[in-house]
Amino acid sequence: MEISFAEPEQPRSGAVVVGVWEEAVLTPAARRLDEATDGAIGRAISAAPRFTGKKDELLPIIGPAGLSVNRIVLAGLGKPDAANALLFQQLGGNLVAHLNGAGETEATFAVDVGEGAPIGPADAAAHLAFGARLRSYRFDKYKTKQKPEQKASLGRVTVATAAPSAAERAYQPLDRTTDAIFFTRDLVSEPANVIYPESLAAQAEALTALGLAVQVFDEQRLRKLGMNALLGVAQGSARPPRVVVMEWHGADGGGKPRSPLAFVGKGVTFDTGGISIKPAAGMGDMKWDMAGSAVVIGLMQLLAARKAKVNAVGVVGLVENMPSGTAQRPGDIVASMSGQTIEVLNTDAEGRLVLADALWYCQDRYKPQLMIDLATLTGAVIVALGHHRAGLFSNNDELASRLVEAGKAVGEEVWRLPLDESYDRDIDSDAADVKNIGGGRAAGSIIGAQFLQRFVNDVPWAHLDIAGMAWSTKDTATVPKGATAFGVRLLDQFVAQYYEKE
Ligand code: BES
Ligand code: MN
Ligand code: ZN
Repeated sequence: MEISFAEPEQPRSGAVVVGVWEEAVLTPAARRLDEATDGAIGRAISAAPRFTGKKDELLPIIGPAGLSVNRIVLAGLGKPDAANALLFQQLGGNLVAHLNGAGETEATFAVDVGEGAPIGPADAAAHLAFGARLRSYRFDKYKTKQKPEQKASLGRVTVATAAPSAAERAYQPLDRTTDAIFFTRDLVSEPANVIYPESLAAQAEALTALGLAVQVFDEQRLRKLGMNALLGVAQGSARPPRVVVMEWHGADGGGKPRSPLAFVGKGVTFDTGGISIKPAAGMGDMKWDMAGSAVVIGLMQLLAARKAKVNAVGVVGLVENMPSGTAQRPGDIVASMSGQTIEVLNTDAEGRLVLADALWYCQDRYKPQLMIDLATLTGAVIVALGHHRAGLFSNNDELASRLVEAGKAVGEEVWRLPLDESYDRDIDSDAADVKNIGGGRAAGSIIGAQFLQRFVNDVPWAHLDIAGMAWSTKDTATVPKGATAFGVRLLDQFVAQYYEKE
């Protein structure tokens, strides 16, 4: 889908979208169209009493007399003083879905910003375009028999604005963000016969082209480093594991080098559960058990692409969790890189084993100023928070509140859950230093986080359990169903808002 910005002029073809404020108050562009159509807009609004101009409402007027366009779409904007960046993104996304559903091939979005809106016209136009492109994502490369009506029809969107070049400038960084999100969504969507530790590592390695320093550790190197917790998960698979380390140096030079922000991702390219095997129903979902790593890779790509003024490091642990004659058994004890021994009582609690070594390596090697991990770690976080918020765990209140704020700003919300000594007692092992599961089903996500914390020293650390957020079975305004890339925008915002000032 092509997106461009242009001065407003009367569109001659396709669809034209104009805004309507709450209580059916027409925006100036809507008023002009109403005049050009001899009152068609006013008539449509009186004939559709449920359309009142609230956010998310759309009202099509098909084949309006007096114009050569196919349709006018009235878009509810809600209250003028509440029309912020997220509202324009969501509108852009909703419009793309609506117009694709209608088979429209081109559209002009002539949506004005009201007096007193918390966003200027150029930014509003840019965010409208951002939302439109985010929603246009499709992963259909393996569909060889799509009928024309199953494909996206909307090929061109023109955003009409009084300041097209300022809008274009405001859109550039958002366009790059979308590139990173699509890259992440692609990685997460690919099946496990295509994306496995080596091939995912190769995707990360290709980012050297953007100026990232990328290292890929093979099995031999992992053994030398002592990453036996990670290796134990991988040992049942014919696919050898990898750990990838990506460095972005955007704040070097002048003075002493600044310690990096660190991002660590769980990359289980397929999680069968291992010997503690999962039931067949829904097991295919476990191709996206590498979403945490894909978000870290996408984030590093984005920081490099936009030349972020920070130092950052991304570490991803990539393994496939399979049952086989060489697989780890429940009850096995492994010595992690930290030196702590782990009793593996359930081979399906594998993400924490991978992260134990990845987190330890990261803090040991980089002495980061903070460390954030992302993982599809527990089904329990879906029980707790559903598909609307990721679980947040942290040993640092400031870091936690920054993540909460960044999440609100971009619409990727996180909700903090507790860590506490009392939960930590549940993972004391009879046979080793720690066991990888608690006693029962209680507080599963907290138990997972407590386990990770055993491998974190005094660095400010946060864990995001994204099991409920990485994949969506429903379309939302800017995220079509499937891989969401949840976390890329959140962490990019977090970096930009708190660590690039000065
Ligand atoms: N990858 C799963 C968690 C998961 C479940 C992610 C559903 C996305 C959707 C993880 O490795 C796992 O299997 N966790 C177990 C932990 C248990 C054995 C303590 C779980 O949640 O059941
Ligand atoms: Mn598992
Ligand atoms: Zn898993």
